[in-house]
Amino acid sequence: MPTPIIRRATSDDAEALSRIGAETFSETFAHLYPPQDLAAFLDVAYGLDKTRRDLADPDKASWLVEADGEVVGHALAGPCDLPHPEVTPACGELKRLYVLRRLQGDGTGSRLLAETLAWLERDGPRRLWIGVWSENLGAQRLYGRLGFAKVGEYEFPVGEVRDREFIFRRG
Ligand SMILES: CC(C)(COP(=O)(O)OP(=O)(O)OC[C@H]1O[C@@H](n2cnc3c(N)ncnc32)[C@H](O)[C@@H]1OP(=O)(O)O)[C@@H](O)C(=O)NCCC(=O)NCCS
Repeated sequence: MPTPIIRRATSDDAEALSRIGAETFSETFAHLYPPQDLAAFLDVAYGLDKTRRDLADPDKASWLVEADGEVVGHALAGPCDLPHPEVTPACGELKRLYVLRRLQGDGTGSRLLAETLAWLERDGPRRLWIGVWSENLGAQRLYGRLGFAKVGEYEFPVGEVRDREFIFRRG
């Protein structure tokens, strides 16, 4: 398969972004939640309204990954809204980073991560944050290699379920 293409998403991509967001979240985490909690979360977090708002927000950026004309991954970055006392309006956050399972382990996620971090630091180095599920050791390794380290944790709501989420920071 040719190397997947990474490109910024535009307002024309709202439906594709909403679809791949729900698909990759479900593929990764659906087993953790009762179906009604998952469905409620997907509606709000990956629904068209939220996706269109994110795409229209000049302080945020979204990316799509495409392979053979098919959308296979996505990312979202913007101002940090993680619940940590040292977060300031100057902080950036990687909010989402996903590649479909069948394409994982091939370097695509690292390239996507590099694009998002470069965008977050387009005006120079700054403090960056990432929220990551406490048991997602693979992603934590990936962020650790790029200088991120755990500085806190919080509870992330998915429907009625509360996930233990770690807060990672660089800078
Ligand atoms: C995290 C993710 C985007 C990385 O993309 P990728 O194309 O597999 O990444 P690369 O091939 O560039 O790098 C591989 C590294 O990613 C991490 N990784 C690999 N598979 C992973 C998985 N299923 N879940 C989380 N991280 C994973 C590991 O650190 C791995 O390095 P290693 O092989 O030395 O352990 C991708 O695995 C994914 O979408 N995972 C599920 C969703 C997820 O966990 N997103 C992060 C939420 S904070």
